[in-house]
Amino acid sequence: MYRIIRKKVLAPTMKLIEVEAPDIAAKVLPGNFVILRIDEKGERIPLTVADYDRKKGTITLIFQEVGYTTKHLGRLEEGDALLDLVGPLGEHMQIEGYKKVICVGGGSGTALLYPKTKAFYEAGAKVLTITGARTKELLILLDELDAVSDELYVTTDDGSYGHHGFVTDILKELLDKHDDVDLVVAIGPVPMMKACAELTREYGVKCIVSLNAIMVDGTGMCGGCRVIVGGETKFTCVDGPAFDGHLVDFDDLMRRLSYYKKHEEEVLSNECC
Ligand code: FES
Repeated sequence: MYRIIRKKVLAPTMKLIEVEAPDIAAKVLPGNFVILRIDEKGERIPLTVADYDRKKGTITLIFQEVGYTTKHLGRLEEGDALLDLVGPLGEHMQIEGYKKVICVGGGSGTALLYPKTKAFYEAGAKVLTITGARTKELLILLDELDAVSDELYVTTDDGSYGHHGFVTDILKELLDKHDDVDLVVAIGPVPMMKACAELTREYGVKCIVSLNAIMVDGTGMCGGCRVIVGGETKFTCVDGPAFDGHLVDFDDLMRRLSYYKKHEEEVLSNECC
């Protein structure tokens, strides 16, 4: 059992939990994820490790309550435990060798962006960070990102905080201003990552995205998480979750992500009644 030792509400539907998992904390690197199951009847869900403390033997997970399982997870409190926690899984992100990096996070993707931003900053890169959300209440980790960024830019779709508009508005401004950017890392909703990939392609700047494909086993066996990258089938769980954004077929990913929407809505409506 993996005990929750800290819980924090980051935004109305966004929660943070710190979980005792010494074996995972000892090996995890930025970009790795875990698969968890709350109880014996629960589905397995992947969550990227947002932070870790090797000394305490804990990992931090941040999730948005979007479906049945994440809502159930959000109801757990400090002292409760998860039944299974498997990881670290996936390929970790290459951090060394970059001098100037723009990190772009949208919505809950900012939680996944944070460990990469921190790692680039600690490795000595100049880090320009952009984070955005629909509205002020949904912005997360601003202080944490500020502490590991040389410059931090904030956007909201409705203009309630920071720049009124999209993260790509600021990304374009920064790419116009800096001609020495080595890498853009974009993590968030699929349309946002697609827009960042298209923009960076125009500027000839490498763009890494982190894909949130549907996962089942997390070991490359079931094929549930397959995505098309550079015209080839890749498995997000073992080949990713980070891929070259210029090669990802985002339209195919959006199609696959919508497959289970109806089923999820049915499960949630049954739970309410
Ligand atoms: Fe089954 Fe990736 S989750 S192959």
